Parts: sequence; structure tokens; C-alpha cells
Amino acid sequence: MFVPVNLSERVFYVGVNDRRTHLFENLWPLERGVAYNSYVIKDEKVALIDSVEIGQVDKFLKKVRAVIGDRPVDYLVINHMEPDHAGAVQILTELYPDMKLVGNKKTIPMVEGFFGIKDKFVEVAEGDVLELGATSLQFFMVPMVHWPETMVSYMKEDKILFSGDAFGSFGTLDGGIFDDEVDFDSFKEEMRRYYSNIVGKYGSPVQKALAKLEGLDIAMIGATHGPVLRSHIPEMIAMYDAWSKYEAEPGVVVAYASMYGHTEEMAEVVARELAVNGVKHIKMYDVSKTHASYIISDIFKYKGVVFGSPTYSNELHPNMEALVNKLEHMGVSNHLLGVFGSFSWAGAAVKRLTSFAEKVKWELVADPVEQKFALGDKFEACRAIGRAMAEKVLK
Ligand code: FEO
Repeated sequence: MFVPVNLSERVFYVGVNDRRTHLFENLWPLERGVAYNSYVIKDEKVALIDSVEIGQVDKFLKKVRAVIGDRPVDYLVINHMEPDHAGAVQILTELYPDMKLVGNKKTIPMVEGFFGIKDKFVEVAEGDVLELGATSLQFFMVPMVHWPETMVSYMKEDKILFSGDAFGSFGTLDGGIFDDEVDFDSFKEEMRRYYSNIVGKYGSPVQKALAKLEGLDIAMIGATHGPVLRSHIPEMIAMYDAWSKYEAEPGVVVAYASMYGHTEEMAEVVARELAVNGVKHIKMYDVSKTHASYIISDIFKYKGVVFGSPTYSNELHPNMEALVNKLEHMGVSNHLLGVFGSFSWAGAAVKRLTSFAEKVKWELVADPVEQKFALGDKFEACRAIGRAMAEKVLK
């Protein structure tokens, strides 16, 4: 049993919380869980907007039935085919044999590939409208936010945008469903982590999507994860705009790998010099302790980054390699970088970090520093990284 949650007279929230899964996409930590959001429109026609991850289908169907009773579902609108939202497609087609699947030309082969479903489709293209009775849905293609087939659905009558992953967040909805019912500030961290981890690679498609949606009159945004937005829409759009342009705040992420403390000591020297030179926001991480998810999220927040690593078997420390590899893959741009490292007989870490700087085109603020054995003659060079970074970041 549950009390139906109305977004408007005919639109209901039927999403579910997942507090059991540890890793989203089996990769990103879910300390606060995640919500898979779905919405029912109960009009002359019944339409579902997306569904949920397969392990959550029972809870989801209970909610759907609580809203529509014995009425059949006429349409399942598939804004996004990633299985955290398409997990119920198969069972819904079996429960509601006359239900049509609404997607675009890129959705349809995915449905066929995942589920072997070859018919039941209503194919929609840019700007098409699906009439539901008193309400309707208009579709806009937003490819690569987050997959090639992603689209959004807009209900002009109630001014609701069903935005797919865009404007989503990690974190379950613990009672509060709307942004003004939750501690929105605490969600902002999870929103940025979600954006940077999941959508962060697609800054340019996000910019195109924002431009496309600019003309819509939006009173509410129902994403596939996180709170339904109605009181923080301009703020959220501004955050998306900044993140997708890689605009960042004056602060510095110092992330290092260290086996026996020598590289960590160099990191401490850099961090102290940052503080002495006026940088207030310094986030320091041992990459072997903190999951890359959180470090990447802070890199989207702060302009300055300092990476340090020992040479490990003639390469970068594997955990630092994993981090820089992810950043290269994501194509994160527009940052300032300082690099340092240590070695005992053959240095390779700093060379790799310098090649990372070239690949992502981040500006090196000071000469790379590489110390043989314990911190000694490179002490002043480490301080110079901190000073140069502080000066550039605070400019
Ligand atoms: Fe929440 Fe890209 O799926």
C-alpha cells in the first residue's frame, strides 16, 4: 500500500528506491542508494514513462496498479533503454499485451536486441506528439544524454518535462519525492557525482539538449533518478550548463597514490602551499582509499587538480592509472594541473602524468616534479607547484 504521489491531476510518481545495490552500473558506489523513477499518466489513455531496474519490478507494479487499478497500460514511453529503466519492458508487454512501445528509430532495434520484441512499436521523431486525452506528450531527441536513443517527453498541458537521466541524481527518495521536500543541498553533491560519473563524458550533447529545451515552459522536471524538480529548476539548469561546459570553482583537488608515504609527503607540501597562498577549498584524496567516483565529482567542481604518484613496476601506480584513464576517456577539459611523483630506481609515473596532461589538454601550472627516494632536493619544487596553482586558480 502507498499513498499515490501526484505531480498533477493526471500524472503520478511510481518510482522505487534501491537501497540494496552497492554499485551503480556495477561500478559507481551507491552509499545513499538510488531511485529508479517512473511516472504514470492516467488520462483517456494510460501511459507509463520509463520503468525500473529488473530487481525492483514487483514493487513498481504494485505502485502502478495502485494508481490505475485494472485499467490496461496503453503506452510505455521509452525515453531511455539502459536497463535500470528498461528492466520491466518484457514483463509489461506480457501483462498488457495491447500496450504499445513508444520510442524513436534508435530505440526500436535496442528493444528488439534486448528483448526480442519485433512489433508493438509507435515510432516517434523530433517534435511528434502523442495524444492521451486531455493531455499529450511531445518528444525531443537528446542523443548521448546518456545513450544514442535517449529522448525526453514534454507534457505542455501540465508543463512537465520527463527528462530521462538528465537532471538525475544518486540517492534514494526517503519520503520526499519533490526537491522542496528533501534536503536539496545534500542532494546537490549526489547530483554532481551522478552527472560527472554517468553523463560527464557527454558535455557537448548536454549543451545541445539544453539549447533545444530552452524554449519550453517547464514547471516540473521528472528525471529517471533523484527528486522531482519544481522549486530549483533554474538553479539545476544553471548547474548542468556549468558542468557541461567544464566551468569550475576556485578550489584544488589533490589526489595521490602512495605506497610507503613518500609521495603522500610531497602531496602534503603542495597542499600546505596552496593553503598558505589563499586556496580555501582543498580536497585531498588517497586514490587507494577513495573511489574515483568521488574524486571525479570534485574535479568537476574545482578548477585545479594536482596528481601525484610513485612509479610502480615501471608504470603509474595502478589506482592512479585507473583515475587518469577514466578522465581521459571522459574527455574532461578546462582544468589546471600540477604533477609530481617519486621513484626508487627508474621513474615512469611523472612521464605518464605529463602525457595525461597533453592528452586532456590541461594547462600544467609548474614544471613536473619527480623525487628519487624520500623527499629531499625536490622540496622547493613541490612548494612551487602549490604556489603556481594557487596563483592561477585564484586569478
Ligand atoms: Fe539511469 Fe542511463 O540510465
